[in-house]
Amino acid sequence: MTSRAVRKPSTRFILERYGDLLPITDRTPMVSLGEGGTPLVRSRSIERELGLKALYFKLESMNPTGSFKDRGMVLAIAKAVEDRAEAVICASTGNTSASAAAYAVRHGLKAYVIVPDGQIAMGKLAQAIVHGATIVQLAGSFDDALNVVREIATRHPVALVNSVNQHRIEGQKTGAFEIVDDLGDAPEILCIPVGNAGNITAYWRGFSEYYRLERAGQRPQMWGFQAAGAAPIVNGAPVEHPETVASAIRIGNPASWQQAVEARDDSGGRIRAVTDEEILEAYRRLAAEEAVFCEPASAASVAGLIRQHREGADLSGKTAVCIITGNGLKDPDTALGIAATIHRAESDLASVERALGWV
Ligand code: F0G
Repeated sequence: MTSRAVRKPSTRFILERYGDLLPITDRTPMVSLGEGGTPLVRSRSIERELGLKALYFKLESMNPTGSFKDRGMVLAIAKAVEDRAEAVICASTGNTSASAAAYAVRHGLKAYVIVPDGQIAMGKLAQAIVHGATIVQLAGSFDDALNVVREIATRHPVALVNSVNQHRIEGQKTGAFEIVDDLGDAPEILCIPVGNAGNITAYWRGFSEYYRLERAGQRPQMWGFQAAGAAPIVNGAPVEHPETVASAIRIGNPASWQQAVEARDDSGGRIRAVTDEEILEAYRRLAAEEAVFCEPASAASVAGLIRQHREGADLSGKTAVCIITGNGLKDPDTALGIAATIHRAESDLASVERALGWV
């Protein structure tokens, strides 16, 4: 037998790759579904238009359940197992529940998910169903659901895996580590959608940790974006009835509000609102010009950057990274709402040629 050189990739999985910076013990189960190691894809059109030195999209949509939640969930559920939990619970606008359901199955735990009735994207509900979670549709908002699960977790033997669980934030900070490792340093600007504000908190923690360890020479300005109809941090007051097409970030009273404000202020950044029209325009452009199919909440980061440029922010010579938090396939209803011409044809060559306008 001839021996062949096998190229082993360096490990992508965050618990192994960044284990030295995570709260892992020798009892933490190192189970992975392949989370992390997501690509930074360079912009081909929006970068030029904004006059940036470089614009990258970090495709967190390529995580195993299609969103960034998997980074935090792999750790939160591993720690729940370590603590001998038998069940986990979360409130969710959809992605957290999909991720919790998947990682719970992998570890043999029960998952209970509480979602606002009729307000989560179809693909996300489908994920919770197929992974066998127990699903409660609550006649209320995400904020109501979060209040309920926080109370439940104090009364029943279930581990709470919303981002108020610090293991979620710890896992998600690895997204910042990867950006620095891929680019060689932090970018000048990090654009991120803000809902419950866990992810902006996590990224800032990750960039700050790498800076302290001198693995990064700079930290980015954190630019967070909320939907205009669900912009409590921008308004400075909770929103009782949040409304936006970006259902993932339809949140009126974020749990990590204070930490998001600290990330903004410590980084010299900003948290601003973008309208649903701006979100949908960025969503459409990302898919049609950049080949990035994301969900509307993810497009808020790009919509925000475009708006900052329009309002006069000087981006020249700077590198920006936009976090693409979730996969477009999760929300087919929004995609199908884009005006499109779909042609019909009989099942023969001539008919298809006619439909295409070629004869
Ligand atoms: N983008 C997507 C696709 C999300 O699902 C979320 C949050 C965010 C952005 C905002 O992140 O909450 O850390 O500020 N989704 C949560 C959920 C609330 O239940 O899936 P955040």
